[in-house]
Formats: sequence, structure tokens, C-alpha cells
Amino acid sequence: MVSVLAVANQKGGVGKTTTAVNVAAGLAEMNRTVLLIDTDPQANLTSGLGVDRRQVHTSVYDVLVLGRPLAEAIIPTEVDRVHLVPSDIALAGSEVELAGLSQREHRLRQALESTDLAWDYVIIDCPPSLGLLTVNAVVAAGQLLIPVQCEFYALEGLGLLTHTIALLRRELNPRLTIAGIVMTQFDGRLALAHQVVDEVSTRFGDAVLRPLIPRNVRLSEAPSHGLPITAYDPECRGAQAYRELAANLDARLRDLSSGLASAGPPA
Ligand SMILES: Nc1ncnc2c1ncn2[C@@H]1O[C@H](COP(=O)(O)OP(=O)(O)OP(=O)(O)O)[C@@H](O)[C@H]1O
Ligand SMILES: [Mg+2]
Repeated sequence: MVSVLAVANQKGGVGKTTTAVNVAAGLAEMNRTVLLIDTDPQANLTSGLGVDRRQVHTSVYDVLVLGRPLAEAIIPTEVDRVHLVPSDIALAGSEVELAGLSQREHRLRQALESTDLAWDYVIIDCPPSLGLLTVNAVVAAGQLLIPVQCEFYALEGLGLLTHTIALLRRELNPRLTIAGIVMTQFDGRLALAHQVVDEVSTRFGDAVLRPLIPRNVRLSEAPSHGLPITAYDPECRGAQAYRELAANLDARLRDLSSGLASAGPPA
């Protein structure tokens, strides 16, 4: 059965796109097949996979706004077993366009439902907002993968995040679960980083995935080469961490579906 995950956090720059591409690559190394969907007008996921956005014919915009079949927008990537639905600049105005359309929160879900999903995973990268693009991703997914950066503002944002999840559950998807929290840019030398991990773990329990993702400059270099970290520098700390995290996520999702793990937090 396909697992559909939305990589979401309304806060910008916390590692959503880095997590989407590198978890996908980690899963692909385990022979899982992955469809990545870029719903961010910034198109960082698209360019980070080496796809020139000027060469994109059919994008997630055509699917969401114009109602084109999702299958028409799917392209292969340099990474075996990973396909992509690219973003393009037209998506920048789509929050406004979507607002005037019927079923505006459900368009991505409907597009996925009318596609033969021959993948083990669909991973949707969200923009840093709670607009209709993120809402479409969350409604389509039903499972959240939430990157949290190990910094002071993460603690301030935690209440907001919990509130948001409760709101999304109430308004849009009562079955919304947390596939995992990914702690990003962890620097073990900083007391604050440990404190952030402790507080997030207190709140979200076993949803906090291991390992913690270290701050690693190779992770920030990889997108400019159009590659996930597992291809750019397969043995660096960032690659090892995302590889291990992908395996743990895969195992946790099996536990979740058999009722062995909690889908926290309490509403
Ligand atoms: N573990 C890490 N170590 C070093 N740099 C990282 C790490 N994770 C992410 N970065 C860098 O931090 C920046 C923000 O990461 P990323 O683009 O993944 O965040 P995002 O949440 O997708 O941002 P946005 O909200 O703008 O979509 C990028 O330059 C990325 O390369
Ligand atoms: Mg991003």
C-alpha cells in the first residue's frame, strides 16, 4: 500500500525540502519507489533534483489549477526509483486562483486518487505557509513528516505547530497522523540544541525520529549539484543520518499501520 506523506511546517527554512529529497533518496536505496511532489512556488525541490524549471512542460500547477491528470506531470529523476512532479513559477499565483475553484482543498487528493499509484511512497514538499497549497498537500497525505530546526525559535513555534495540527484535524482530516518529527541542523555542542530535542520529545514522544540530523555543510551543497546527499557525498554524516532516518521512518510507518506506535500528539 502506498504511504502518502506531506513534509510540512509553516516556518521557513527548517529543512522541509532537504528532508523530502533525502528521505526519498534513502528510501530508494532500500528499494522503495518514491514519487516526490513539489508544491512550493520556490521550486527548490525541483531545482535541487537537477530539473531546469524552464524545461518543465506540465507541473503541479497544471494539475491543481487546470485539472490536468497527475500522470502527465510525472518525470523521472537522476535517482533510480524516484520520480518527480515538478513545480513551476505559475504556482506563485495559485493561492488566489485556487480560492475561486470548487473543491479547493481537495484537488491534490482527487488528482492522486485518480492516478494509478504504483509507488511505495508519495512525498509532498510544502511551501512555508498554511495556505491552500499546504492544505491540499495535508488533505491528500493524511500523514505529516514535520522537520523542526534545533534552535530557539523552534520552542516558540511548538505551540503553534500543535495548534495547527489540531486545527487541520478538526477542519480537514480527522485521521491526520504524524509520520514523524525530523530534528534538523542539530549541533551537539550547543546546550540549546539538546534542550530543543528534549522539549520536542516531551511533547511528541516516539514520533521524534532518530537519528537527529546534524548540521552538515554537504547537505546544503548537494542541491546546487542537482543531487540528493546520498549521491553527492554518500558517506558524509548528513547522508548517513538521512539514510538511517529513512529506514527508521519506514519501520515506524509499518508499526503505525499495525497499531504499534502512537500517532501523537493528543488533540
Ligand atoms: N542539516 C543541515 N545542515 C546544513 N544545512 C542544512 C541542513 N538542512 C537544511 N540545510 C540548509 O538550510 C537551508 C534551508 O533548508 P530547506 O530549504 O530544506 O528548508 P525549507 O524548510 O524547505 O525552506 P522553505 O521554507 O524556504 O521551503 C537550505 O539552504 C539548506 O541547504
Ligand atoms: Mg522548501
